[in-house]
Amino acid sequence: MHKNGHSSPHMPDELQAFRVACPLLNTRIYLANCSQGPLSTPVRAALDTFLGEWAELGMHWDAWMAEVDRARAAFAALIGAAPTEIAVGGSVSQLVSSLASALAQLGRGKRRVVSSVAEFPGVAHAWLALMAQGYDVHLVPGGDERVVEMQHLVASIGDSTELISVPHVCYANGMMLDMASIVAAAHAHGTLVFVDAYQSVGTVPIDVKASGVDFLAAGTLKYLLGTAGIAFLYVSPTVVERLEPTVTGWFGRVHPFDFDPARLDYATSAARFDLGTPPIANAYAARAGMELVQAAGVERIRNQVERLSALAYDLAPQLGLLILGPQQVECKGATTAIDAGTPENAHRLEEDLRHRAIIVSARGKAIRLAPHGFTHEEELERALEVVAELLH
Ligand SMILES: Cc1ncc(COP(=O)(O)O)c(C=O)c1O
Repeated sequence: MHKNGHSSPHMPDELQAFRVACPLLNTRIYLANCSQGPLSTPVRAALDTFLGEWAELGMHWDAWMAEVDRARAAFAALIGAAPTEIAVGGSVSQLVSSLASALAQLGRGKRRVVSSVAEFPGVAHAWLALMAQGYDVHLVPGGDERVVEMQHLVASIGDSTELISVPHVCYANGMMLDMASIVAAAHAHGTLVFVDAYQSVGTVPIDVKASGVDFLAAGTLKYLLGTAGIAFLYVSPTVVERLEPTVTGWFGRVHPFDFDPARLDYATSAARFDLGTPPIANAYAARAGMELVQAAGVERIRNQVERLSALAYDLAPQLGLLILGPQQVECKGATTAIDAGTPENAHRLEEDLRHRAIIVSARGKAIRLAPHGFTHEEELERALEVVAELLH
């Protein structure tokens, strides 16, 4: 037990196993999961499998395509979708750009897109690029550290709004938005809903059917313990066949292996948003990471993350630390953003903590402590104590 009295209650076996699968946790307090998850033993083994196949067989296309489809299915399972409702791309920015290109072809006469300052830049930029095609793209403003009020988002939706785009959890401050309320308000105006779940998937249970979102995207390098260079887009079957992206590639065709340069048809499934040759090596890592998270159990991970958030709210004032963004456990994802005063301080703090074997991620004037289901209470407590010591 630490001096502030927070002992780790018995961690469920599944989370213990999750922890054991990440050797880095033996030597580091790892709280940078909002940026990059640690390398796990199964992800390393999956990448080794790919390298082994490549080394021994050279070309192994059938197995590689099957692995990409396994990654697609693993992502679908995490969000309550069918594999046919998932597109595979190289990044969220690229998938959203492709989606934006399809919106411009919808022809519903709605020429407004609502986004916000809580959006990850790459996503907002894909929407802003629609201005060149005459769209009005409105970024809902926010308060300190990009906190955006639900009522401002909802009030920005009107009958001319084609789509509203929101992060499920904000990268800057950990704020979690209520998807169901946004969907209800948007659909009342015939407005489509895009959710960027990069900062929530794997730590917050997601059911795209229950929430009714039209689109949801995420990559795998954060809480899904994969690598950069692969991302997924859920497209609701209620809209998919009306969408014809002009940012497209041969894997988006009905029969890619017909190799017909003269036929631009669109796969009936969400694969119409697939582009060129898929990110094969990254799919190995992604599938293994997502299976590890599934085995740990997203509900269990969320419970642990909530315990850790409660601990942070409890300890921060005692240590003289200010938490930016949401102030309630149920309104936040895994990230707790501590005010470091200035971006320079935050950056320096990240470096100083690294030298003390505590890995965190600075963003703006915040130092982000982002635990996962494998994090012990004592680890977060220790990190908060060291942050306080270094800041004061
Ligand atoms: C919420 C969120 N969306 C998107 C991204 C990045 O997306 P990509 O680099 O795949 O375009 C990040 C972080 O890198 C993020 O935190």
